[in-house]
Amino acid sequence: MVKSRTRFVCQNCGAVYTRWAGKCDACGAWNTIVEDDPTSGIGGGPGKTPKKGRAVALTSLSGEIEDAPRIGTGIGELDRVTGGGFVRGSAILVGGDPGIGKSTVLMQAAAALARGGCRVIYVSGEEAVAQVRLRAQRLNAADTDVMLAAETNVEDILATLAEGPRPDLVIVDSVQTLWSDLAESAPGTVTQVRMGAQAMIRFAKQTGATVVLVGHVTKEGQIAGPRVVEHMVDAVLYFEGDRGHHYRILRTVKNRFGPTDEIGVFEMSDLGLREVANPSELFLGERNEKSPGAAVFAGMEGTRPVLVEVQALVAPSTLGTPRRAVVGWDSARLSMILAVLEAHCGVRLAQHDVYLNIAGGYRITEPAADLAIAAALVSSLAGLALPAECVYFGEVSLSGAVRPVAHTAQRLKEAEKLGFQQAVLPSRTADLPGERAGSWTEIETLPDLVARIAG
Ligand code: TYD
Ligand code: MG
Repeated sequence: MVKSRTRFVCQNCGAVYTRWAGKCDACGAWNTIVEDDPTSGIGGGPGKTPKKGRAVALTSLSGEIEDAPRIGTGIGELDRVTGGGFVRGSAILVGGDPGIGKSTVLMQAAAALARGGCRVIYVSGEEAVAQVRLRAQRLNAADTDVMLAAETNVEDILATLAEGPRPDLVIVDSVQTLWSDLAESAPGTVTQVRMGAQAMIRFAKQTGATVVLVGHVTKEGQIAGPRVVEHMVDAVLYFEGDRGHHYRILRTVKNRFGPTDEIGVFEMSDLGLREVANPSELFLGERNEKSPGAAVFAGMEGTRPVLVEVQALVAPSTLGTPRRAVVGWDSARLSMILAVLEAHCGVRLAQHDVYLNIAGGYRITEPAADLAIAAALVSSLAGLALPAECVYFGEVSLSGAVRPVAHTAQRLKEAEKLGFQQAVLPSRTADLPGERAGSWTEIETLPDLVARIAG
């Protein structure tokens, strides 16, 4: 009996199944599994004769070990997230929601590099050359030597790239539009995206050009997600931001040649994305110092300190089960802080609705924010505003103890720079700076904090 070769692939995460299902068990997405031809795709197929390779000893690779050669874009925030510029011969995925500004920032980087004498090719599969030129004009980049091509077929793209001198940077916008003659599935499916990305990555490794792949992330998972591409590339950057706010954050989630906890902050203007060198000023911009429920958290993003305002609203509930709503923070972590406040501090919140918001649409991932969150909650419940020039940081454990966090000196320095003279921080902090400019209050447990605020 001939064995069936049909397989089914989830278009969201790339999981492979032998039969169709409505829901993907791997990523939980619905209606994303489609039939796919396994013969098209990776590998040379059954007829390929194996080629003998050669292994070399690590010690035989003598000579100076150098840092990966990089090309700086001159856009400081972009160079920061890549770890100092694009590494030659590497492939980078820039992901994000449609309309967030991926094409904009890449056109700005392309123009900056072209001005510096690099050969840059912008391959657009989504927009016609005229549209790309219009955007470039808006960004004051139309007078640069960026080469434009509107292609979606990988073989055509590679043929175009083979013409003329070797490029330094190739931008493919977007990876979802790529398709190859060698795969039979429809454009936009996982197989096509994977093959297209693979061909472009091979091009980068062979020629030493940097290849930037743009990938849209959709919540519906209808278009093949760049998730499958994430494993293949050297670096993954995600563009985050809220449509209601002007600023955008470029975050490194994977980087084989640099740090993975850096962020770059931009502001969308009518002349494209503008770098924001001091994000704290942006996140503290619209601060109302007199209102209860607001606390300033001295946070860290990679190597950079960032001050953000945490806003809490605690109000008596009319519902049987009070509401808990969180924007910009982990809701499980909020439940934990509420439980610690109830259990160890005698703060009764079971009859109250709790709303928590991080100013400016920013997202906090650090546990060091626990103390600032608790301060905001207690301040709102008590109806007492916190001191205007005070910052908070520290991790709260389930026992109610306040635990030290890393980078104390940097957090305090940033706070001081922005005029915050006071800080409430964990006691037993090892790296506390010797000289004190402001007044710092070291606290040991969460009840200490509650006593300070509510008196
Ligand atoms: P775009 O880079 O096309 O997004 P993506 O490639 O991620 O889909 O830009 C999206 C938005 O940015 C668009 O709604 C218009 C806006 N924009 C500006 O506000 N100023 C500008 O200078 C440019 C070029 C775009
Ligand atoms: Mg775009």
